[in-house]
Amino acid sequence: MGSDAIEGLLDESRTFPPPVEFKKGSLQTSAEIYDEAEADFEGFWAREAAELDWYQEWDTILDWQPPYAKWFVGGKLNVSHNCLDRHVEAGHGDQVAYHWEGEPGDTRTITYAQLLDDVQRTANALKELGVGRGDRVAVYLGMVPELPTIMLACARIGAIHSVVFGGFSAAALRDRINDSECKLLVTADGAWRRGSVFSLKDNADEALADTPSIEHVLVVKRTENDVEMTDGRDLWWHDVVPGQDADCPPEHMDSEDLLYLLYTSGTTGKPKGIMHTTGGYLTQVAFTHKYVFDLKPDSDVFWCAADIGWVTGHSYIVYGPLANRATSVMYEGTPNHPAEDRFWAIVAKYGVTQLYTAPTAIRAFMKWGDEHPAKHDLSSLRLLGTVGEPINPEAWMWYREVIGGDRCPVVDTWWQTETGGMMIAPLPGATTTKPGSATFPLPGISATIYDDRGNEVGVPGGGYLVLDRPWPSMLRGIWGDEQRFKDTYWSRYGEGIYFAGDGAKRDADGYFWLLGRVDDVMNVSGHRISTTEVESALVSHPAVAEAAVVGRADAQTGQAIAAFVTTRGGVEENEDLAKELRDHVAKMISPIAKPASLLFTGDLPKTRSGKIMRRLLKDIAEDKQLGDTTTLADASVVDSIKNRYLDSPHDG
Ligand code: WTA
Repeated sequence: MGSDAIEGLLDESRTFPPPVEFKKGSLQTSAEIYDEAEADFEGFWAREAAELDWYQEWDTILDWQPPYAKWFVGGKLNVSHNCLDRHVEAGHGDQVAYHWEGEPGDTRTITYAQLLDDVQRTANALKELGVGRGDRVAVYLGMVPELPTIMLACARIGAIHSVVFGGFSAAALRDRINDSECKLLVTADGAWRRGSVFSLKDNADEALADTPSIEHVLVVKRTENDVEMTDGRDLWWHDVVPGQDADCPPEHMDSEDLLYLLYTSGTTGKPKGIMHTTGGYLTQVAFTHKYVFDLKPDSDVFWCAADIGWVTGHSYIVYGPLANRATSVMYEGTPNHPAEDRFWAIVAKYGVTQLYTAPTAIRAFMKWGDEHPAKHDLSSLRLLGTVGEPINPEAWMWYREVIGGDRCPVVDTWWQTETGGMMIAPLPGATTTKPGSATFPLPGISATIYDDRGNEVGVPGGGYLVLDRPWPSMLRGIWGDEQRFKDTYWSRYGEGIYFAGDGAKRDADGYFWLLGRVDDVMNVSGHRISTTEVESALVSHPAVAEAAVVGRADAQTGQAIAAFVTTRGGVEENEDLAKELRDHVAKMISPIAKPASLLFTGDLPKTRSGKIMRRLLKDIAEDKQLGDTTTLADASVVDSIKNRYLDSPHDG
């Protein structure tokens, strides 16, 4: 692409109306839905909720006592019934729910009827293991069909799942299990990852040495590696589940009963157990999945390429698609195994119609080269989506042109673990898009921008993104920490104003442009990692006296982690130690949290009250003009760090 074209891309006035062919058959071609929803947002969401099956209708749509919201109060429903039984009862039992593809190339085709059968047997197995309503179940699996199965089985009997991403370390798993006192852990012998086996069970065993609440461990056999089974505690899935009765009537859950916990990084070292409930959550994920992806259940093959260990997979691989009776692709492995064209081979093989992935993946595809997608027939695609981090206009254009052949709308969707479902995103048949902008809040959703003094910023203008009205799939709290819930999200701008932690601006046309985190949360390849979490991991190493971590801009991964470390007296600072410390973080948290660069410094820049000034370290790491240094206790520290940093080997 020439430089003229790129300049054009950065132009906020460059617009793409819905492609003509796409618009013809689209579910929602008129922008009137925004006004309808705005006129009565509670009524709007109630109409969407009524698309679900309820055992008992709600008596109040919304009970809002900031910061506590209850949606569809008094209503009763079951999520697994809505995702499975009602479709089978309507005659769709033979429809494929998941085309599952393992990384080694093995496949499983799972229909709605089979999934319902599996879920009921699994639910009965849970009961046999003493798991009931309100109990917490930790799930530590790769992307295997047993993962959605166990989630739905929990939902069926009213147990609460807490899925922990399979790439997390033993320590991370242990802390999450203990925080919510899970009774059962579901894991596997291993997971396939880029052609090799990652032993989940070994990690789980390490965690289980210190998880007193766990009574049993249910182990899926996936990779056939040797694992140790502890008598009386550990059970094979294949010994326990298939022999169960395939009939397990769903519990009638209250609309506000907990559906799941999902841990996410915040500004302190301790992850937050985000709480999601039943009726409102399912309503919003079903609505957004249907309209943002323009889902046609009879003809589409939908593929969300995220991992179910993150919220994107919860909402758009499991609950949204199943509630809408979608046929989905579920893929176990990495995009470059065995080769860089794996995604495109999958799109062609299953005739994928909508693809939803992260900007980091798109940038990797761009780097790997156009020849990989060119090898495959991608003409089945009719819509493309992105999530997880800001998408740069170049990547947006590449996605649209090279993958979408200029005929597919691109939907950039902004949301968070806390919001449960999409919040700011185009309606593909109605909204004119701009490359790099998530466009507008969805119908029924309200968002705006505040400055740091709490004044609303007009259009155009930039500042902090806030949500100034409750929404159905909003978080209901942080497990076991009400104060943190209030402090983190609801204290900055007064009653009922949710602080998202993202910077944003609106252009002259009112389009929202998301600008990244404004707090101490980094976003590496679309994964949230807190600076404090990485710093705590570093200082837990005996060689480290003090550490400071910043996320610096990176063309590939959005942000990359730069660590600055002071060592204890007598420790020799060398490349081996730097590597050891980076590996230590990977082991303590996850490989995704491993610093891309680590620099030993004699001292860290601090204010006179001893607070580390990460902002200056960020300037150093990004090779920028240093910001205001007047509050530093010792201004010479930054210059010496800067010189060392520029001399040090670091990627990116
Ligand atoms: C970022 C993922 C820009 C943002 C669903 C948010 C985005 C955090 C976008 C939540 C987007 C997500 N454009 N930034 N389209 N989507 N983000 O909880 O910083 O893993 O606060 O949820 O990702 O990450 P989380």
